[in-house]
Amino acid sequence: MEKQQKIISMFDNIAKTYDIANRVLSFGVDKSWRKKGCELAYHYNGKESVDLVVDVACGTGDMMSFWSNTAKRKGIQLLSILGIDPSVGMVEVGKKKFPDFEFKIATATDLGIEDSSADIISISYGIRNVVEREEAFREFHRKLKDGGLVVILEFTKNPNGGVFTGLRDFYMTKLLPVIGGAISRNREAYSYLPNSIGDFITSEEMVSELEKTGFEILENRSFSMGISSLFIARKVN
Ligand SMILES: C[S@@+](CC[C@H](N)C(=O)[O-])C[C@H]1O[C@@H](n2cnc3c(N)ncnc32)[C@H](O)[C@@H]1O
Repeated sequence: MEKQQKIISMFDNIAKTYDIANRVLSFGVDKSWRKKGCELAYHYNGKESVDLVVDVACGTGDMMSFWSNTAKRKGIQLLSILGIDPSVGMVEVGKKKFPDFEFKIATATDLGIEDSSADIISISYGIRNVVEREEAFREFHRKLKDGGLVVILEFTKNPNGGVFTGLRDFYMTKLLPVIGGAISRNREAYSYLPNSIGDFITSEEMVSELEKTGFEILENRSFSMGISSLFIARKVN
């Protein structure tokens, strides 16, 4: 099986336990990272009405609920939110949790929506699973309106060591596969996570790929001592 298809089947296999494993493994801190990403994006967007937010690699839909709730809190009218993911298993869980949200089975490299139609395209903890990442960035650029925003949350590789990085790596490579493996009964999937981060790009590389595709970087910040990173970039040309 080709690499991309293997990754998607892995998510199909862990879909039913994904949410519980996620909450346990992240101690719930991912909520504050997601909330901050949505708040900043709406701030940069600067409009009181937003036609379309597309959440790519939406999985079980959590980021979609952050887009929706943050819009309500800020008095922003969000007309439409679409979740896109190639894993039927993940989307089935999402549909049960959020029956009012719209989901679509598709990949980051072919979103299957109209060109220049989205105000915001987000991808949370999903871009490292996209094998053809630069092709996905080109697709995001095509599907965004002029001035539209791409919002990326991801665990990036941290090249500079230090005590905290050591602790983080111990958690990611030793504890996480055991705990995640026990909850999901799929050790392989939870060993994939630290490996996929280790193999992944640094924040600097992410910024340079986005700039190369025609985005201007508005935010590049890290949370919780570098565990998670947020990128917000605007389509400029
Ligand atoms: C770690 S989960 C993140 C889910 C969700 N965004 C969240 O924050 O909880 C990664 C998701 O990426 C999806 N994925 C894998 N390959 C993809 C691709 N080529 N295009 C879009 N999504 C993909 C998986 O199916 C999975 O649902």
